[in-house]
Amino acid sequence: MKVAVTGATGTIGSRLVEELRGRGDEVTVLSRDAERARQTFGADVEAVTWADPKSQPAPAEGLSGRDTVVHLLGEPIAQRWSDEVKREIRDSRVLGTENLMRGIAAAEARPKVLISQSAEGIYRRGTEPVDESGPTDPGAFLSDLVVAWEGEAAKAIELGLRVVYARTGVVLSPEGGALGTMLPFFKAGLGGPVAGGRQYVSWIHLDDNVGALLFCLDTEAAEGPVNLTAPRPVTNRELSKTLGRVLGRPAVLPVPAFGLKVLYGEMAQLVLTGVNVRPRRLEELGYRFRRPELEPALRAATGRGS
Ligand SMILES: NC(=O)c1ccc[n+]([C@@H]2O[C@H](COP(=O)([O-])OP(=O)(O)OC[C@H]3O[C@@H](n4cnc5c(N)ncnc54)[C@H](OP(=O)(O)O)[C@@H]3O)[C@@H](O)[C@H]2O)c1
Repeated sequence: MKVAVTGATGTIGSRLVEELRGRGDEVTVLSRDAERARQTFGADVEAVTWADPKSQPAPAEGLSGRDTVVHLLGEPIAQRWSDEVKREIRDSRVLGTENLMRGIAAAEARPKVLISQSAEGIYRRGTEPVDESGPTDPGAFLSDLVVAWEGEAAKAIELGLRVVYARTGVVLSPEGGALGTMLPFFKAGLGGPVAGGRQYVSWIHLDDNVGALLFCLDTEAAEGPVNLTAPRPVTNRELSKTLGRVLGRPAVLPVPAFGLKVLYGEMAQLVLTGVNVRPRRLEELGYRFRRPELEPALRAATGRGS
C-alpha cells in the first residue's frame, strides 16, 4: 500500500512510519523540512516539502497515486497558551487541513482514504462516560477548534474518500507528550493528584495509538469519528498512584490548581478538568488493544518492564 503522512516527524508520526515500513508499505512524508525528514527516515522513504501548510496547498505530487493519507500535523498543544500560540495551534490544524483538501482535489489520481488526526478535546468535559456521539462544548477553545478541524477534513468525503477522524486521548509515550511533562516531577518524588484528582484521563499507549491508526487504515468499515483511547479511562488520582508505583516513588503530594495555572496559563484547564472517553467504535469494529491496562502500559512507556 502507498501511504502519504503529514506530521510524520512527530511523536506519533515517526512511530507510524516505522510500522508502515515494517509491513512493507511505501511511505511518502510531507514535511515543512523534507531534508530533515530524509535524514530522519533514510532513503527508502520519499520526502516532499510542504513548506507552509497554513498558506499553501499540499503538494499534489506527494498525494497523487497514494492509497491513503494520514494527516497528523499540528503545532503542539501542550505548551503555555499565549494569543499567538493559540492562533498557531488552531491555524496549523484548520488552515493546514483546508490546504490538504486543495492538494487532494488537485491530485491526478486521488487517494481513497483519509485518516485525519483529531482529539478527545472535542467533547464537553465531565465525568459521565462519552462515546463518539458525546456532546461537543460550543465556546470552549479546543472543542471549537476540533469541530472546525474535522469540518475541513469532512470535505474529503465530497472528493470521494473514506474519512476517519481519529479522536485521540492522552498518548502515553516514552518520548515527550503528557508523560514527558509529568515524569521529572514524579521521579523527584514531587508527583501527585492534580486539583483533587477526580477528573478523568482518557489515555492510550503509543503502541495502540499507532495500532489503531493502522487498523482504521485497513478496515473498510471504519468511517467518521473513532475514539482512540484505552477501554478503561482512569481518574487523575489513579494515574498518579499507578505512575508512583511504577517508578517506585511516592506520589502523594497534591498538586494545586493555581500551580498549574501559573506554569501553563489557560492550557492548565485541560489537566484540571477531564473527559471520560469510551472507544465504542474501535470495540465494535473488533480492534484488539495491544496495551489495554494502565500499569503495564506505564511500565512499557517508562522503560520499567512491560
Ligand atoms: N501526543 C498526544 O498526546 C496527542 C493526543 C491527542 C491528539 N494529538 C494530535 O496528534 C497530532 C500528532 O501529535 P504528535 O504528538 O505526534 O505531534 P508532534 O510530535 O508535536 O508533531 C507534529 C508534527 O507536525 C508538524 N508541525 C509542528 N508544528 C507545526 C506548525 N506550527 N505548523 C505546521 N506543522 C507543524 C511537524 O512536522 P514537520 O516539521 O515535519 O512539518 C511535527 O513533527 C497533533 O495534531 C496532536 O495535536 C496528540
